[in-house]
Amino acid sequence: MVMVLIYDTPEEAVRATAHTLVHAIGKIMPYRCCEFGAATGNTQKPLYAEMVKLWPSINPRPGRFRTWNLDEYEGLDATNPQSYRYYMYEHLHGPLKIPDHLRRFPCEPPEEYDVAMLRETAAGGIDLGILGIGRTRHIGFCEPGAPRKQKTHRATLHEPTRVDAVREFGSLDLVPTGALTMGVSTIIDLWSRIFLLAFGESKAAPVHDMLEGPIGSQCPASFLREHRDTTIVLDRAAASLLKKPTIYIQV
Ligand code: F6R
Repeated sequence: MVMVLIYDTPEEAVRATAHTLVHAIGKIMPYRCCEFGAATGNTQKPLYAEMVKLWPSINPRPGRFRTWNLDEYEGLDATNPQSYRYYMYEHLHGPLKIPDHLRRFPCEPPEEYDVAMLRETAAGGIDLGILGIGRTRHIGFCEPGAPRKQKTHRATLHEPTRVDAVREFGSLDLVPTGALTMGVSTIIDLWSRIFLLAFGESKAAPVHDMLEGPIGSQCPASFLREHRDTTIVLDRAAASLLKKPTIYIQV
């Protein structure tokens, strides 16, 4: 089931989502390690900042929070400021003092990632996690054409995705052509609870296609409508092209 929450501003959306996430993590932690799925877009930066602020309120237990990142660029090591390892260290792992062995990223061979996730979580998979949506309608780096059954794999980045990454890399020739990414199946079948955040006018068309277009590989994000517990968190601008407002909750 997909629930859509529409907030007036991204700031309100971020505050409310961070609160929901941190408190859900806090309910799991006393009993076992919480498994968290992590995205690394610009959209998530303020969310991580808010989570860091709220973190002490749940009396976190050391060793009881493990992150599973969705993706990583090919050919960048953790010391490269454009790598997702670096991003995570800066925004979440560093501030929360998450030890190295609890920070998981897809690496070679990619198909091992899903196997490791199931093994290390005693087949429970990811408890909860966050996603963003790209201009191509990707989730993670599952670009259009990504099959529903695909697990973690090597993906070729589509041109608009690489063009959007120029703001981080500085020029197109520095943007990697490939990445390792969880597949649609990894996300839909192995994550129990999903929060996708999208803000601003540039996300309005992707959000529309995700929620109101046909479900299929042409819009990988549309597969979220087959997931059992997904919350789509929007601001008014990102929700502006939705045509069925009565089924959406205005917060
Ligand atoms: C990266 C990821 C991507 C981004 C998406 C949106 O880990 O999962 O799917 O979430 O490209 O990125 P922003 O938020 O920068 O627009």
